[in-house]
Formats: sequence, C-alpha cells, structure tokens
Amino acid sequence: MYNLFILSSPRKNGNSETMAKAVATGITENSDDRCEFVNVNSLSIAPCVACGSCSDSGSCIIKDDMEGLYEKTDLADRIFWVSPVYFYALTAQIKTYIDRNQAIWARKYLSGIRHRASESRSGHLLSCAATDGARLFTGPELSIQCLCDTLDLHYGPSLLLRNLEGRDALQKLPQTLADCESFGRKLVTK
Ligand SMILES: Cc1cc2nc3c(=O)[nH]c(=O)nc-3n(C[C@H](O)[C@H](O)[C@H](O)COP(=O)(O)O)c2cc1C
Repeated sequence: MYNLFILSSPRKNGNSETMAKAVATGITENSDDRCEFVNVNSLSIAPCVACGSCSDSGSCIIKDDMEGLYEKTDLADRIFWVSPVYFYALTAQIKTYIDRNQAIWARKYLSGIRHRASESRSGHLLSCAATDGARLFTGPELSIQCLCDTLDLHYGPSLLLRNLEGRDALQKLPQTLADCESFGRKLVTK
C-alpha cells in the first residue's frame, strides 16, 4: 500500500511532523507499505481563484506544484493530512491545497467522473494543538471529511492530540509517541 503524508506546518520537526513520522513507523514495522512525505510549505501552490474553468473542463487552469499532488492523491491508498490547529482551523498552507481539489469536486459532481474509488482507500487527519479545548478539531475534521467525500475516500480513523505547545513537546512524551506508532500499526493489522 502507498501511504501519502501531506504535511503542512511551517515549523520543521515540530509536533505534527513528529506525529506523522511515528504513525509511519507503526505502519512500516508490520507491513511492506511505502510511506511518502510531502510538505506543502516546500511546494508552490496558488489559491483557487474560483474562475469556474474546472466546472467545464474538470481540470484546474493553474499550472503549479498541485499537478504532482493530483497524481499522488490518485495513486495513494491512504492519505494522511497533517496539520496543527491554527485558530481552530487547519493551516492556511493545507487549506490552499484543499481548495484546489475543487477541480476534483467539479469532475465528480458536475461531470459524474469519479476519483479512483476502492473499498480500501482511506483518508485520515493527523492534528495537534497547544490547548485542550473541546472543539479544537471540529473545523479541521469537517474540512477533511468533505475532502474525503470529494476524493471517494473513507474518512478516518484520525489522530488528534491536545496540549502540545513547544516544537519538541511530543518528542518529550514517550507514551504518546508510542500511541502514535500503535495507531499506525493498527491501520495495517486490522
Ligand atoms: C498561527 C497559530 C495559531 C494557533 N492556533 C491555535 C489554536 O487555535 N488552538 C490551539 O490549541 N493551539 C493553537 N496553536 C498552537 C499549535 O497548534 C501547536 O503549537 C502545535 O503543536 C504546533 O504544531 P507544529 O509543531 O507541528 O507546528 C497555534 C499556533 C500558531 C502558530
């Protein structure tokens, strides 16, 4: 299986990246799965301009690094969207990438062309935040659920961690790190 991790924190080696790496460790420990990491911060992805072209053609007129991501998205068996909570939402960087999936939405809902659907394909949110607010992940989860509908992916399970503030907060919590690995392990052994 091909696991695609789409990272979005501008903070290198921060908590969300640490989470993603630990989940990947759990996945690869018990399988021949391939894990690939892409950070949207190192790509050039312009925001959707709502030009409506994709409603007619089913594809986006903007030519940038999103082209490679459309391809990877289509090939991946599991996609992990990895984002810290920013003001009760996903990062702007990953939201910019999500909005460009409007082309896929148009293809599916306006032209009836489905994305590569399969029973076993799934999408997952890996997210973390500094506080412990009850509704911290409500916004991020709704966005990712909507994206999964668009991409014909089953949603979840997701991994959501609270109380992680400093860059190395998660690295200092061996039990939580082990839980992240276990989360990955369960995905391939269920
Ligand atoms: C612009 C910005 C907005 C944030 N907003 C929230 C927030 O609304 N709630 C919260 O609990 N943490 C918030 N945080 C904290 C991050 O979610 C937290 O530090 C997280 O662990 C960072 O992950 P990273 O190390 O992968 O970047 C915010 C941080 C930044 C930089």
